[in-house]
Amino acid sequence: MSSTSRASFGSKFGIIMAAAGSAVGLGNIWRFPIETGQNGGAAFILIYIIAIALLGVPLMVAEFFIGRHAHTNAAHAYKKLSSHPFWSNIGFIGVLGGSLILCYYVVVAGWVLKYMFLSLDGTLSTLFTPGDASGYESLFGNFVSSTWSPLIFMVLFVLMCHFAIAAGVRKGIEKLSKIFMPALFVILVVLVGFSLFAPGAQEGLSFLFHPDFSKLTTSSVLSAIAQAFYSLSLCMGCLCTYASYFGKDVNIIKSAVSISVIDTLVAIMAGLIIFPAVFSAGISPQSGPSLAFIALPGAFQQAFGAVPAVAYIVSVLFYALLVLAALTSAISLYEVPTAYIHETWHIRRRYAALVVTAVCLMLGTVCSLSMGVLGDLHLFGKTVFDFLDYFCTTIMMPLSGVFIAIFLGWVVKRDIFMDDVTNGRTLRAAPAGVIHWLLRWVAPILLFAAFLGVLGVI
Ligand code: PHE
Repeated sequence: MSSTSRASFGSKFGIIMAAAGSAVGLGNIWRFPIETGQNGGAAFILIYIIAIALLGVPLMVAEFFIGRHAHTNAAHAYKKLSSHPFWSNIGFIGVLGGSLILCYYVVVAGWVLKYMFLSLDGTLSTLFTPGDASGYESLFGNFVSSTWSPLIFMVLFVLMCHFAIAAGVRKGIEKLSKIFMPALFVILVVLVGFSLFAPGAQEGLSFLFHPDFSKLTTSSVLSAIAQAFYSLSLCMGCLCTYASYFGKDVNIIKSAVSISVIDTLVAIMAGLIIFPAVFSAGISPQSGPSLAFIALPGAFQQAFGAVPAVAYIVSVLFYALLVLAALTSAISLYEVPTAYIHETWHIRRRYAALVVTAVCLMLGTVCSLSMGVLGDLHLFGKTVFDFLDYFCTTIMMPLSGVFIAIFLGWVVKRDIFMDDVTNGRTLRAAPAGVIHWLLRWVAPILLFAAFLGVLGVI
């Protein structure tokens, strides 16, 4: 495929919205509060922000550089910078990882969609009994372990992604991101406003903002790094693929910093919505993955129950927010294998998207059923769903991160990086120099240490 006929984003705003759309997702609104709750609150957030600055931004710049420089899909991009058989193929890890994440991401996104309907039709408010979450517990337990209902919602969600992707880079991804992301910010601000007025909000705020370093362990530091990678959509081919649609005039470093700031702000705002409500309702912040589906529906009713209409609105808006966030992230995951198939097999985007949809539906079905009838099917002692999440976020993402950092720090010539990132030396060189230094020294060492941590060596 010639580079002139290749798709591209239409505007810088579109680029920021699409990439921020990839980053802002269930990771910010569902996973971040869980991780923060389980790892002691403010101290975890501090480590998380350090991980974003030292690892997240440099790796995002690296992926943007590789994608824009190569102007092709994530698997083939590395070949344009190295002919060595090992380095030229590390992009495949991203394509594989991104595709696998997609298959379980759509399952949770399906749950979120279902919960949006449950809050719309009032089910979530009628189930409320003060001080007793058993109604929500059985609702969630029965739903995820059933066969058809979660599958139907997953299929609905996959179809939405499919049509967005099939519409193309500008008319699908960019257009939707330009509508969905501002809508998401408006909902966030409204929800933060409500939450700050919940009775007892103070306790939630101090949990979020007063660090207790005694709660920090090696494993919480590792979780902060994994969360930073997951939340910024790093090393799974998404950012590299999106950057292949960037124009030559895009300031890569500025974009990476803006996207990282937006992503972190959204995560903290999600914390500001969730923890005041959770503390106000007297729920433990450590409730884990079920937080959004078991604890929160009750927490919203409890916190805003004095005015039932507010409780209803908050609940509907919250799940709508999750759906929007999940959609733009899933679309970026979809684009990785779609661009790869489209450019490798030389078939139309629409047909490439069909292949991705078919595979995603098959694997997604197995993941969804692993909560119920396939619950006994175990891979390395975990259900298929848990195994995929663990394998992708704890092994593939940091592994791919180490390779990308070493590739840029040591294999690609520094001059090529500096020329490209400064847009042909028209931008200041110092920030690019700092990023290169972080990629060469800090990222490989920190990520290697993180790996030893995962293996239990440190
Ligand atoms: N960053 C997304 C989120 O926060 C998840 C994601 C991970 C998307 C990796 C793409 C690649 O939900």
